[in-house]
Amino acid sequence: MLRTHTCGELNESNVGQEAALCGWVWKSRDLGGLFFVDLRDRYGFTQLVVDPAVGKGLHKAASKLRGEYVVRVAGEVRLRPEEQRRDDAPTGAVELRVRELEVLARAQTPPFNLAEEELEVHEELRLEYRYLDLRRPHMQRNLAVRHRAVKAIRDYLSARGFLEVETPILMRSTPEGARDYLVPSRIHRGKFYALPQSPQIYKQLLMAAGVDRYFQIARCFRDEDQRADRQPEFTQLDVEMSFAGEEDIFEITEGVFAASFRDGVGVELATPWPRLSWREAMSRYGRDKPDARFGLLLDDATDIFAETSAEIFRKIVDAGGSVFALRVPGGLSRKQLDELEAAAKAEGAGGLASLKVGPGGALSGVLAKFFDDGAAAALLAKTGAEEGDVVVACGGPFETAAAAMGSVRLRLAEMSNVKKEEGFHFLWVTDFPLFERDASTGEPVPSHHPFTSPRLEDVDKLEAAPFDVMSRAYDVVVNGVELGSGSVRIHDAALQRRVFQAFGYTDDEIETRFGFFLRALEYGTPPHAGIAPGLDRWIMVMCGEESIREVIAFPKTLRASSPMDGSPAPVAREQLDELGLSLKEKEPEGK
Ligand code: AMO
Repeated sequence: MLRTHTCGELNESNVGQEAALCGWVWKSRDLGGLFFVDLRDRYGFTQLVVDPAVGKGLHKAASKLRGEYVVRVAGEVRLRPEEQRRDDAPTGAVELRVRELEVLARAQTPPFNLAEEELEVHEELRLEYRYLDLRRPHMQRNLAVRHRAVKAIRDYLSARGFLEVETPILMRSTPEGARDYLVPSRIHRGKFYALPQSPQIYKQLLMAAGVDRYFQIARCFRDEDQRADRQPEFTQLDVEMSFAGEEDIFEITEGVFAASFRDGVGVELATPWPRLSWREAMSRYGRDKPDARFGLLLDDATDIFAETSAEIFRKIVDAGGSVFALRVPGGLSRKQLDELEAAAKAEGAGGLASLKVGPGGALSGVLAKFFDDGAAAALLAKTGAEEGDVVVACGGPFETAAAAMGSVRLRLAEMSNVKKEEGFHFLWVTDFPLFERDASTGEPVPSHHPFTSPRLEDVDKLEAAPFDVMSRAYDVVVNGVELGSGSVRIHDAALQRRVFQAFGYTDDEIETRFGFFLRALEYGTPPHAGIAPGLDRWIMVMCGEESIREVIAFPKTLRASSPMDGSPAPVAREQLDELGLSLKEKEPEGK
């Protein structure tokens, strides 16, 4: 037997026993001929004491040990001297007095120190040597949390009759709004598969197939700009239910999250989660993914400004826009105000107006000069501003003004070091508009995806007033992170066709891209609804990480590459020939 225990296992109950351990040399110290070595594996670490007096050749063997050597040791488990006991590790009370020591594998000096808790090296280097990075206890913990959480998800859903079904990776492209990764076909020259941006169409086809309750830990692929919470390939918990509506999805989702947090990190989530309409979320937080761990809520001041002599704002309101105000307790310096204005402008706002409440209630700031008409008082009443405070306000089209103030709110929270409540503030955002305005063309584009059901009472507005149509979509949000989206789907072929048309698809496009799907809807597809939380973000939040790369074993860099294996990489000419592909000349750098 190579090992009798793991490196995280021995404790006081083993004292006096013989044990054999295998692991990596983590830290080693030579104290005048007596060697202390921490031996590490994924379970923990155990202190070894190598006393050369115990056996022949031990001194030589111990003095050759280097960090990350893989060794096997055997000896007696002993209680550590009182002053050396540590209660921050399960093995902290004992040590192994080594009698045998065998090097199983030598190691080069690692490019970074694995024993450092806060590793201060470039992420690129960590990714190049990811197998070393993953040896660190912190990363091992993240992998283990992910495993436990996913197991809890599978157990929870399986116990409720959900079937896990795999869907194709090589498929026809589905419209989730990102660019596809394409795979050229050798057999069908000139044709391409797309990798799934999500299994959306397949899971709906499974409902048509009578599967009734489906889930999948599904890999998805999207060719989009990378960020801390985005990867070119990522994982979703994909769920779909027949004969179900919003409430069924909310209940199952809250249950599955609670189970995963319980088993993943021992946290009991409070359920049910609060619900907020999209409009409320935008009006109060200026975001469709509110961070509800702190206040600093926006106030809708549109009514107040409708009546004032402040012409810029009145014009905005007359044109159907909105004005939002935010009370800043304790006021702002000129520099801080400028910073907040920059945050608002970055979201497309024209500027940020302010009103300062000085000693004795004396008003100053841009807004003060407009207010002979009682509106200042109304603004103060609405926001609750008091002496020493500043009120900032921004107007524009509803979404622009709200988003600008949402940025101001977040920037202000950062700036004033606002205290955020502990824990996980989950909430549902509901009642999204079905359409968004395309930023460049102004045309209606799906704000979720084109399979989302409109609210039934809005169906008549699909053609005449698309932007007034609300959808039956919902998002799960926690601490300002969008974790997942879903919706009640369209299950009627005629309505689905109408919605495709409203999104601007021609009849030809509808037939070639979605004909097979519409046909399925014509053969008795039950009403159904679903959701897909992003698993990487889910585990990131659970582990308290800032980037999903910390919870993915082998992630890509922000430039969608892998410094370890060098992907993406060129391929041989013959491979291209076989596929009938030839490459265009590469454009010179900088173009
Ligand atoms: P959606 O496109 O909103 O919905 O995606 C759902 C969730 O997937 C995660 N996610 C990502 N995670 C990491 N990297 C990415 N590039 C990335 N893109 C998305 C997010 C997001 O909230 N089929 C629908 C769901 C449905 O309607 O059931 C869909 O995919 O956490």
